[in-house]
Amino acid sequence: MSMLRLELIVSDVEALKREAGIAACDFIENGMKLGLGTGSTVRYTVIEIGRRMNEENLSVVGVPTSESTRELAESLGIPLVSLADAGVLDLVIDGADEFDSDFSLIKGGGGALTREKIVAQSSNGMVVVADDRKQVQALGAFDLPIEVLPFEWERTAARITEICSGDVTIRGGEEPFITDNGGYILDCSFGPSITNPSDLESTLLDIAGVVEVGLFVGICDAVVMASSGGIVTLVNPTGRLS
Ligand code: A5P
Repeated sequence: MSMLRLELIVSDVEALKREAGIAACDFIENGMKLGLGTGSTVRYTVIEIGRRMNEENLSVVGVPTSESTRELAESLGIPLVSLADAGVLDLVIDGADEFDSDFSLIKGGGGALTREKIVAQSSNGMVVVADDRKQVQALGAFDLPIEVLPFEWERTAARITEICSGDVTIRGGEEPFITDNGGYILDCSFGPSITNPSDLESTLLDIAGVVEVGLFVGICDAVVMASSGGIVTLVNPTGRLS
């Protein structure tokens, strides 16, 4: 593939992320308490929220799901509160690495899965922003991120390997990636075979040393998906936004 073609593909994907990120702002209403997700797609949502606050008098408060989102939101002048002060949030908007037809997700490509799940579980609705590469038949082609304690993480990884037939690798290798919580991330190659994400999530959470699993089941209410054909909003028929 030529460099020019590669650059075009990269810029196409970036344009889709931007479209999805901005379109999701249609779910936002004045006065809302919002969870602000993490990643390169929802980044565009956060930027658009900042623009609407500055130019259109939108008034919201946010709870960031990572230190990087906190920095971005602060730079845009979005007022931030803690979950403890906010209580239940009206909505969280976040990205995903994969979603299936049941609106189950793999998240954590950016390493923020634990805070993302805490915020999502504290919200009355969850909207995912994604481009159409993230839509899958079965979860698992994207390596499942699992946050683990650094203490004896090799033992935790060995126990996960008893469940995961593919590779279980520590993110960052010899210089491990460290999460905002001081944890490590294990990327687990299940392959596109996760047909019962709820059971797998429970099994993995039973392993001592596992802090959180990047499977989000029964949490996502809608996906704003951008493709070359335009924006499609998929609403979970059993979700809270239907
Ligand atoms: C962050 O930990 C992740 O859950 C992201 O939301 C997810 O990886 C999607 O990120 P992108 O929008 O950058 O693909």
